[in-house]
Amino acid sequence: MHNLTAPGQSLTPPPMKTNFTIRGFGHYAPEKVVTNVDLEEIVETSDEWITTRTGIKQRHMIAEGQAASDLAVESAKQALADAGMEAEELTHIVCGTFTPDSMVPSTACRIQEKLGIKGQACVDVNAACSGFLYALQSARGMIALDPDSKVLVVTSEVISNRLNWEDRTTCVLFGDASGAIILTAEDNTDGPQVMDVVLSADGSLGDLLTVNGGGSAWTYKKGETVGDEFFVQMQGREIFKHAVRNMVAMSKKVTERQGVSFDEIDVLIPHQANWRIMEAVAKKLGMPEAKVFSNIHKYGNTSAASVPVAMSEAVKEGFIKPGNKVLIPTFGGGFTFGAALLQF
Ligand code: ACO
Repeated sequence: MHNLTAPGQSLTPPPMKTNFTIRGFGHYAPEKVVTNVDLEEIVETSDEWITTRTGIKQRHMIAEGQAASDLAVESAKQALADAGMEAEELTHIVCGTFTPDSMVPSTACRIQEKLGIKGQACVDVNAACSGFLYALQSARGMIALDPDSKVLVVTSEVISNRLNWEDRTTCVLFGDASGAIILTAEDNTDGPQVMDVVLSADGSLGDLLTVNGGGSAWTYKKGETVGDEFFVQMQGREIFKHAVRNMVAMSKKVTERQGVSFDEIDVLIPHQANWRIMEAVAKKLGMPEAKVFSNIHKYGNTSAASVPVAMSEAVKEGFIKPGNKVLIPTFGGGFTFGAALLQF
């Protein structure tokens, strides 16, 4: 059973000396769209199977030569424009990704270079599909230590390059995209506020979802061809169970810490892995489906990018309105879990 009162995860919220304001939202997906019908040409599958099991109808895929940092720069530029800020004003870049451009340098450094700026602290965070909440919490830490910080929190995934296109159990599920926000501490707290974030992980579930190839535990020599271990491998059914259970537990924890009931939540944005998982989470929390924002049909599972892409779309489409309370539960490979509570 998951230990929800692990060290650093107290049931009372930490005392906060500052606010955490989201000043801008951005999202980007590459132009190329691959539909379920297109996939019928590649593996033995059907639009009907994918739609009924997952809710996915299509996903976006990079053009040749694009990397995670290229998608990130697009969503970052949008977030900066939305915030009315210049890239030079940023103090930190935190990038959540499990599909970085390379092992070294970090994707955050690449993003900095491609934005044409220098001097910011740049770091990647890998918590797979919980990557946005882990990056957000890292940014909150930076702002808590220095309230003048203006942090680009960006997540970006190019999962299509890490899929085994002969494995129908994984290749139909994922897509490429990036989402970004600018997090600051403002004197004027009119903008959306991050009220609280809780994080957790259970490393004993690590083997349920892996991309092992390229890691130091997986030796390979120059000239060897890559095997299945270089691509996403997962145990879907097991993941489903842990995902629902832990997203519910994390949602309860963050709302309890803030004294907010589920009736008071206006919008639920779960990690967009599978519509059936989102449906099950909403049901267990006693929340109507009408409050759930989902764009899984358009993008598939974009891992760390899924939450900020969904949030950015929900804001721009008016699904999230000023005054709304938004609950964001996530799960991801690791296994990592988290939940955030936002006040718009
Ligand atoms: N097309 C057609 N048939 C398929 C496909 C496919 N793409 N994939 C699997 N099948 C078949 C299987 O081979 C199996 O056939 P069999 O009964 O003859 O053996 C049958 O469909 C059922 O397979 P299951 O795996 O049992 O199907 P299930 O109902 O569990 O759905 C799914 C699979 C959609 C993957 C589901 O388990 C799921 O969503 N799990 C969570 C996965 C997830 O979220 N992963 C990412 C998590 S972490 C992160 O986001 C990075």
